[in-house]
Formats: sequence, structure tokens, C-alpha cells
Amino acid sequence: MKFFLDTANLDELKKGAEWGIVDGVTTNPSLIAKEGIKFEDRIAEICQIIDGDISAEVVSTEAKLMIPEGKKLAAIHKNVVVKLPLTREGIKACSALSSEGIRTNVTLCFSAAQAILAAKAGAYLVSPFVGRIDDIGWDGNQLIRDIVDIYIEQGFKTLVLAASLRTSLHVIEAARAGAQVGTMPFKVLDSMFNHPLTDKGLDQFLKDYQKAFEPAK
Ligand code: E4P
Repeated sequence: MKFFLDTANLDELKKGAEWGIVDGVTTNPSLIAKEGIKFEDRIAEICQIIDGDISAEVVSTEAKLMIPEGKKLAAIHKNVVVKLPLTREGIKACSALSSEGIRTNVTLCFSAAQAILAAKAGAYLVSPFVGRIDDIGWDGNQLIRDIVDIYIEQGFKTLVLAASLRTSLHVIEAARAGAQVGTMPFKVLDSMFNHPLTDKGLDQFLKDYQKAFEPAK
């Protein structure tokens, strides 16, 4: 499973990169807006920090505008993946960009039916939003399981990117379901390290070592 960070914050990306376990980045217009910096400039900066797929989302809503906007984003760096919303116009743009060899990430996917449309349009990635489905009282993990099963059954090449992961349990469930990618905020990735028995065990190891080899003077 590849790990992407769902952030446009450079400090978070640098910290994640140091661990050597971040394979890519997803951004969205809300995350970019939070940083208050020109969109294209920030995407270019991100590409210098993480050597992997970097999703950059279009803000046009009509295919005839999404297509040139997507091409402009793809020209920023070879690793840019053009993110498109799962709308009729987004799918139209996805088909057009995919047929020209431009990699796309179809986002805001909330049903297996929508995921089938993304695969049919040749999307490189599809992003089902686990947390936002849980937010409305449904089961986000079940959606990941359904899409993975359908894609395997049909031989679709589109990769399942479990998005809107809010807890380490979401990451575990997405991994168990077979999602090829999980994107998460930095704090979720960071929380995956935590276990009280690791801290307790390390503390004891160091105390024992100190007692045996570094006696108090
Ligand atoms: C994915 O690409 C989205 O940016 C993201 O995962 C949305 O997460 P949220 O529902 O926590 O905002």
C-alpha cells in the first residue's frame, strides 16, 4: 500500500519525507487555500520535496475548461496527477485527458457506481472518501471493499486511493480491503506510530542497559 500525505503544508511534507514512508501527496482547493500561496507555485514546491504522485485539482466545472486547466497542471512536473471531480463534466475531462496519456485522479467518489464510471473513463486513481461517508452515518470502509472487489472482478486498471482517512483504524481497514493507496493528514500518519507498550518497553530497555553499563558515579 502506498502512503500519500493529504496536505499542502511544506513542513508536514518535509517531516513525512524524513521517515521515508511517504509515496505521494494529494491536495485539494481547500488545503491549498489554507496555505495562502499561489496554487501552481505550491504544487511545484511539493514536487521538489516528495518524489511521487502529486495530485493537483482543477477548479473549473466544465470539461472544456477542465481539460486545458488539467494540461497546465500536468505541465508543472512529470509527477503531477490531475484531480477531477466525479461529475459528468469531470468524467468527460477524465476520458479526454486519459486518452492523451495524462494521469488523472477522480475525486469526491462516494459510491461504487461512481467508481465504475471513473474506471471506464480511464482514471489512473479513484478517490473514495471514507471519513465523509462515516460522517453521514454510512460505512466508508465497506465502500473501499466494494470498489476493490469490483475492480478485481472486472480487471479495471484504476488504482483505489482510499481518501478522507481520519484515523489509523481507517488506514488499517483500507489496507485490509486492498486499497493500493491511502491518503491521510500528517496527524493520522503520525498517530500510527503510537503504542504505549512501545514507549514502556523502550524505557525499560534503556533503564536496564544504563544500570548494567553506565553505573551511577
Ligand atoms: C482527498 O484527496 C481529499 O483531499 C481528502 O482526503 C479529504 O479529506 P477530508 O474529508 O478529511 O477533508
